[in-house]
Amino acid sequence: MTKINFYPNEKMFSLSGNSFSYIMQIKDGYLRHLYYGKKITDDDISSLFPQFLRAFSPSNFNDDSFDSFSNEFPTFGRGDFRNFALLIKTHTGSRLTDFKYDYHEIINKPKETILPNLKGEKTLVIYLKDIISNIKLCLYYTPYKEGIVRSVCVNNLSNETIYLKKISSFSLDMLNDNHELLYLTGSYARERHIESLPLKPGLFEISSLRGTSSHQFNPFMAVKEKHATEFNGNVYGFNLVYSGSFSLSAYVDQYDCIRLMGGINHADFSWQLKPKEIFITPEVVLVFSNKGLNHLSNQFHNLYKNNLIKDVKHPIVYNSWESTYFDFNEEKLLLLIDKAALLGVETFVLDDGWFGNRLDDTTSLGDWYTNIKKLPNGLKPLINRCKKHNMEFGLWIEPEMISLNSELYQKHPDWVLRDSLHKPIESRHQYVLDLTNKEVLNHLKNTIETLLTENDISYVKWDMNRSLTENCSLTLNFETMEETQHRYMLGVYKLLKYITDKFPNILFEGCSGGGGRVDPGMLRYFPQIWTSDNNDPISRSKIIYGTSLCYPLSTISSHIGDEISHTNGRKTPLDVRLAVNTLGPTGIEFNILKKDLPSLNTIKSELENYKMRRNLIMDGDLYRLESPFEGDLFSMLILNKEKTKGHLVIISLNITTNGKINYIKLKELNPNKQYLINDNIYFGSTLMNVGIPFRHSYGDYCVKTYTLEEVI
Ligand code: DGJ
Repeated sequence: MTKINFYPNEKMFSLSGNSFSYIMQIKDGYLRHLYYGKKITDDDISSLFPQFLRAFSPSNFNDDSFDSFSNEFPTFGRGDFRNFALLIKTHTGSRLTDFKYDYHEIINKPKETILPNLKGEKTLVIYLKDIISNIKLCLYYTPYKEGIVRSVCVNNLSNETIYLKKISSFSLDMLNDNHELLYLTGSYARERHIESLPLKPGLFEISSLRGTSSHQFNPFMAVKEKHATEFNGNVYGFNLVYSGSFSLSAYVDQYDCIRLMGGINHADFSWQLKPKEIFITPEVVLVFSNKGLNHLSNQFHNLYKNNLIKDVKHPIVYNSWESTYFDFNEEKLLLLIDKAALLGVETFVLDDGWFGNRLDDTTSLGDWYTNIKKLPNGLKPLINRCKKHNMEFGLWIEPEMISLNSELYQKHPDWVLRDSLHKPIESRHQYVLDLTNKEVLNHLKNTIETLLTENDISYVKWDMNRSLTENCSLTLNFETMEETQHRYMLGVYKLLKYITDKFPNILFEGCSGGGGRVDPGMLRYFPQIWTSDNNDPISRSKIIYGTSLCYPLSTISSHIGDEISHTNGRKTPLDVRLAVNTLGPTGIEFNILKKDLPSLNTIKSELENYKMRRNLIMDGDLYRLESPFEGDLFSMLILNKEKTKGHLVIISLNITTNGKINYIKLKELNPNKQYLINDNIYFGSTLMNVGIPFRHSYGDYCVKTYTLEEVI
């Protein structure tokens, strides 16, 4: 149940969902934030937030200071010395604005324009106005059962051009009570590891300036009570619906208040807003949980599954990359297709190397026609062979990029992100196409459309293998050059919208050198994302665990790799690879032509089991029972919504010789019902309080998987 209430006497707004309240009030014309947290009955709570004049704090009021006032959308330069959400430079060079409440309305959530949006219904819009500069701010709040989606729009009503130097998607003030900040950090092949730190006075920021949401920091952060755990305590989560350079920050002030903020990274940003033009920020998703991190995650997952991510079938794929890299020909691929079909694979995916003159990573990005040296008969024989086996065919592309050594670059050297003076920096021998340029965008639309029309393709892996460096375009000028990064992102979204709308039956999987662009913006177009190039299940257990903090398992794609991991050389048993790498959309990614029959038979039968539990994995609720970040165990339980069926995985990540017996306590079962768990029957109360015993037996990385079913 969601509600939007306005109390005219108290001038108070109250938004609520299933278990949270969000309260704001107009005071002295300003929009003040009062409360966000566990649901409370609507009450006039303003006197519970006393204000008074503070020393060294500028003020126009008798009883309040700008520097301690909880401004719902703080601006620069009017006595609030904390982090500001908005900085506008007007035509005089002044950076001062003074936004006061104008009016509000409740509308249906506006239709998505270019930026990816969650679907939603009733939306509160609060209009603030700076009457001196004649600029309007629209603050959007859409409450859902699970959380709130916010965004901001600036409307330049004046007759002068203004420049947005910073515009956040949200700002939120709250009291610090020994809170901690939790975030996801890492690197290539080590994405989304959980980190946390105590919030102390000062500014802490996670950000990306790479033009992608990045491997290094994810646009997600959570503020949690110090003692909050997976299953207890208050936690607030924030996730930006944006795939480009972002910033999320926590500023703790002199009075131990936390100001949380986030949006487009303003370190390399400026936006020219001519008279009557508007600028809309990316959305941000706010979720509150009073039942710990696990509940927070399930709230995010439900919100995204119901309002953002397209409902699709996730096929078992065979991906050619880690078995052939660039070294393949038609004959080899046909053998792989035949073998993959025997294993129960549903889609055969031809990865990098099939186009232009691509023999290695130095050439041909941009030349999206078949490499006739490797595939003289084109893609058709491969597609036909797949069809013969009742399998689909999938293809890898990297449309946003261009190789220096390519026909496209010979023709259009000016189509890359660059300025007019410096030679752009190469990364993996490639440059970034200038997606701020309409001509480039149209070329890509036509090229991809032709490729997907001429070939019977049901899956596309959309890769992006470098960060942006030259944030300049030859089509922009002195006033607009700092718009490059955001314009690039808008170009990507336009292209994705066009292509995914044109081909609604194709499943598009996102990828950026593994998991360099895993964010809700991408999930709008990619129902699944290649989470990492690191397939080693021990590393992957951490990557999946961290990623699942805000992204559903149905989006976290993993493949069963070779015995020796191609990224770190770790050797792992097949049962561990099968258990970890089938916790979401899955596939096989090693040379199956070399493998002995017994292991292939095991894979085949495990994929059959996977098909039976696939819906449970995609649609169920996740319970993270043991964290690989906290000990030597990894355990996840997935239960269907009715809590009648489940899948449990327990893995020991390290050898403890002659160690203790761990008891893995299940969650959310009905204490009075009985469950068949593998071959035994127990009451829910037993499984939740006594738990399942697990002990490391012998050899590296022991694993146990269980199927759970309510006994009727
Ligand atoms: C990076 C991806 O993460 C890999 O899976 C593979 O597709 C390569 N790119 C191909 O160049």
